[in-house]
Amino acid sequence: MIKATEISLLRATLQQRKELYDISRQTFYESFGPPVNTESNIQKYINEHITLNIISTELTNSDIYYFLLKSEKEALGYLKLNTNASQTEDLGESTIEIERIYIRKQYQNHNLGKLLLEKAIELGVQLKKRFVWLGVWEKNIRAINFYKKSGFIPFDKHTFILGDDVQTDIMMKLNLQRD
Ligand SMILES: CC(C)(COP(=O)(O)OP(=O)(O)OC[C@H]1O[C@@H](n2cnc3c(N)ncnc32)[C@H](O)[C@@H]1OP(=O)(O)O)[C@@H](O)C(=O)NCCC(=O)NCCS
Repeated sequence: MIKATEISLLRATLQQRKELYDISRQTFYESFGPPVNTESNIQKYINEHITLNIISTELTNSDIYYFLLKSEKEALGYLKLNTNASQTEDLGESTIEIERIYIRKQYQNHNLGKLLLEKAIELGVQLKKRFVWLGVWEKNIRAINFYKKSGFIPFDKHTFILGDDVQTDIMMKLNLQRD
């Protein structure tokens, strides 16, 4: 397995757009492709939402933070965090959203997802945000349990459109400050 000393987790730069594009498409497909969703819905979503153009624009937006988790050889996973108006829900300026958190399938269950989650919390604290939140598909039980284990609690729901399928996401949050 990969040694901790061989791993880096750094904010991605515009030069890494192709690497980010490849891992974004690969991990989205392996997580939510058939049989979980239809091939046509998944392709429609990926082709509309995970493009080099979109990723390049996002990498130059100071409200959006992409982090790439890498070994010496390859990308293992990535994290996308949104702040201020770039969040997918209008929750104001005191929150930070985990929009995407992905570990490639063959590297899951080795505490790498936890590293990404800790990075999100660290940035939220650094930016003095009140809470970190995310939307997780109601059928993604594995991820829901992963978040619950880290102290996230459900607080609302929103809609997520995957191709032609209208799905329900559970919104979960973790307080970063004592109320
Ligand atoms: C969700 C995901 C990021 C978790 O990453 P991971 O590397 O597999 O998880 P980790 O090994 O870091 O697990 C961290 C902790 O959560 C626990 N955990 C992980 N999956 C769990 C599950 N299904 N149920 C309960 N606990 C779980 C682990 O036991 C570990 O606990 P510990 O700290 O006490 O040892 C990863 O599985 C993934 O990329 N999934 C596909 C994409 C996805 O669904 N992303 C979320 C979209 S909202």
